[in-house]
This record gives sequence, C-alpha cells and structure tokens, in this order.
Amino acid sequence: MDTRGVKLTWLGHATFKIQTPGGKTVLLDPWVQGNPACPDNLKQFDKIDTMLITHGHFDHIGDAVALARRHKPAVVCIPETANWLGSKGVENLAEMNKGGTQKVGDLEVTMVHADHSCGILDGGKIIYGGDPCGYVIRFEGGFKLYHAGDTAVFGDMKLIAELYQPDLACLPIGDHYTMSPREAAYALRLLGVQTVIPMHFGTFPVLAGTPDALKQLTKDITGLEIIAMKPGDTLG
Ligand code: NI
Ligand code: MN
Repeated sequence: MDTRGVKLTWLGHATFKIQTPGGKTVLLDPWVQGNPACPDNLKQFDKIDTMLITHGHFDHIGDAVALARRHKPAVVCIPETANWLGSKGVENLAEMNKGGTQKVGDLEVTMVHADHSCGILDGGKIIYGGDPCGYVIRFEGGFKLYHAGDTAVFGDMKLIAELYQPDLACLPIGDHYTMSPREAAYALRLLGVQTVIPMHFGTFPVLAGTPDALKQLTKDITGLEIIAMKPGDTLG
C-alpha cells in the first residue's frame, strides 16, 4: 500500500517504530527489552521524538520509563498513566483523553476507545492506570493509522470508521487477552479499512490467533489486504 512517506516497523507484539515523512521517530507501546518477539538489533534507538502508550500493562509500557528518561520524547497517554509515569521521572507528558485530538510534533493524534483493562503493576501492587485506549494517528501527507491497542471488538469501531476513516489498522488477533481472528474479522467489517496489520499474536503460546485464520474468515471482504509482517519487517 502507499503509506505516503510513513515507514512502519513492527518490533513484535504491539510495539511499532514509525519514521514520519518529516524524519521524526515515533514509538508505539514501548516494550523491547523483555519482548521475546523483538529482534535484538532493534532494541536500541538513535532517538525517539514521540512515544504513544495505549495502556499500562507491562507488555505495552515495559520500557516506557527507561526510554522516555533517555530520549525525552513527548509521551502521549491517558492522564492516570501520565501521572504514574511522572512519578517515575518521565518528563514531557502529553496527556489526553478519549475523543480528543492533539498535535504532537508532526502528528495529529486522536485517542479512541479500547475495550480492555489498564492496571499498572508497580512493586507487586496494581495501580489504577485510567482506561486503556487506541489511537488514530494522522501524518503529514494525510496517511491515517489506527492502532487499536489491546481490545475486544466493540460496536463503536463503526464510529472510528465514520469519523476518521483510517487507511491502515493494526489489530490484535492473539486471543485470550484480546480479540481472536473471529472478533477481528468482525472488527474489520465495522472499520471498513482496506489494509490491516495483525499484531499481539505468537509472542507467547497462549496468543494463538494467526493471520492465516483471519484471512480465512475475511475471504469475502473485497479488496482487503492483510499484511502478515514478521517482527523487524518494515512497511513503506
Ligand atoms: Ni493489555
Ligand atoms: Mn497486551
């Protein structure tokens, strides 16, 4: 597909590194050091300009504090998670909440709903991290990415389609903690996107959903392209 100058690299699980057309580096759901799916050569970063966090589970924020302290990106997340990150010495917090849009560097970021949970494990206790979320990111040049975070399918994905018309969706398909291919196939009908990257599968044996299963369940959707990336692969 034509990503209009956006380069998207899958670091495994729900973690993506994005190079914008203007040369900024964006990291979505920073989990690299303990991420068994992340290639070793992609665990270090020259710079990070913007970090986006969908929720406080370890497999989405595992490296948020360390990488934010080192690279000083603007960190986009929900206020309760921002407060926790701030307590750990993270600066440049760009908190927001669902339904809002803000400009962060060269991105326009809209926070959208996700149907999941959002506790942060800290010293053996669960801290309230606010709600989980997804993001619609609009890049210079107009390309629009929807990263769903961890979520079940929900009917208001139809609203995301109608309001924001994403070009590409990153959807979890692993099952157990998120949608399986069955629910993701339904999500694709609600979202109306032509291109999807399956994520949040295969990292652990319990995340058993596969891109092939999603392909089988969406054969009737005309023009749908399912991009089955391998960790380390880059689109665009
Ligand atoms: Ni989660
Ligand atoms: Mn997760």
